[in-house]
Amino acid sequence: MNLPDARAKVLESLLEGVSRKDLARRAAALSAAYRAGGPSAGIVSDADALAYVLARAPATYAAARAVLARMPGLTPATVLDMGAGPGTASWAAAEIWPDIAVTMLDRSAPLRALAAMLMPSAQVMAGDVAGTKPRADLVIASYVLAEFALDKAAILARDLWQGAVQALVLIEPGTPDGFARIRSARAALIKAGAHVAAPCTHDADCPMARRVGESRSDQHTADWCHFLQRLPRSRDHLILKDASVPFEDERYSYVVMTREAAPKGARIIKPVVESKAGITLPLCDETGLHDEFVPRRDKEAFRRARKLEWGDLVESPSPAV
Ligand SMILES: C[S@@+](CC[C@H](N)C(=O)[O-])C[C@H]1O[C@@H](n2cnc3c(N)ncnc32)[C@H](O)[C@@H]1O
Repeated sequence: MNLPDARAKVLESLLEGVSRKDLARRAAALSAAYRAGGPSAGIVSDADALAYVLARAPATYAAARAVLARMPGLTPATVLDMGAGPGTASWAAAEIWPDIAVTMLDRSAPLRALAAMLMPSAQVMAGDVAGTKPRADLVIASYVLAEFALDKAAILARDLWQGAVQALVLIEPGTPDGFARIRSARAALIKAGAHVAAPCTHDADCPMARRVGESRSDQHTADWCHFLQRLPRSRDHLILKDASVPFEDERYSYVVMTREAAPKGARIIKPVVESKAGITLPLCDETGLHDEFVPRRDKEAFRRARKLEWGDLVESPSPAV
C-alpha cells in the first residue's frame, strides 16, 4: 500500500532536489530518538518533518487504513486527528469516507506545515493533545499514546473519549509497550461506559497477560495483541532505510471504542495455520483465547476458513465459520 495519490504527488514535489543522504541521516536520528522515548521530540525542522514522512508515514498510514477499513458500520461526518503529525490517519479516514471533514491537531510546527500542504482541505490546528477538549464523530490518536507514560495514556484516552461522538480509535506500535498502552486505555474506557468495536468482539477483560510472559503455562498469555500490515517500499524508502527487501511489515496494536454495543463473533489474533488436516484459527472472543480447528474434510467450512486472515472478524466460528 502506497500513499494516496494526491499526497504522493505533493510529497514528490517537496522532495525535488532534497538530498536523500541528509534525509536518511535525519530518519536514523529520529529512529534513535523514537527508541529513547518518542520521535516527535526530534522533529524540529522542515527537513526532519520530511524525513519522518518518508520513513514512517507509509507504514502508519497503512496501519490506520487497515484499522478504519474494519469499521463498516461507522459513518462519521467529522474526524479529529489528535497528534496528527503529517496527517497520516486523516488520509486513511478520507480514503474510506471521502466527504469527511478533517481537523488535525499537533504541537509540532514543521509537521503541521507539512500536514497542511499534504491535505489542503483539512483544518490544521496547533495544540496539546492533553489539554484540548476535542469533539468530532470520530476521534483518532495514531501512534501518539507512546509519547505518554502508561498511566497518563489511559487518562488521555478517557479525555479523548469525552469528545468522540461515534467512536475513538487508538493505534500504537505492535510491541509489548504499545499493546500495554492500548490495553490500559481499553480498560479505562470500558469503565467510562465505552464499548469495544474492534479488535475485541466483547467488553470483557482482555485475556492477554498484563505483562508478556506473566504466565508461561499458557502459550496464549505469553503474548500481546497485535496485527500486521505488509506494504511495498518506495525507492526513496529503500534508500532511506538502506533496505533491500521491497516491502516492510508494520506491526500495530489498536482499539476502536464506540458508543454502541460491540459486535459478536471472534477476532483472528495471530496468523492462520494451514496443515494437511485442516486450518487452525487462533481466536479471541468473550470466552477468551482459543484455537478453532476447521478440518479439510468439512469442505464448505474449510473453503470459507481459507479466505480468512490474521486480523479478520469471524462472525460465527466454525463449524459454520
Ligand atoms: C509518532 S508521531 C505520529 C503521527 C501520526 N499520528 C501518525 O500516525 O503517523 C506522534 C505525533 O504526536 C505529536 N505529539 C506528541 N505529543 C503531543 C502533544 N502533547 N500534543 C500534541 N501533539 C503531540 C507529535 O508532534 C507527532 O506529530
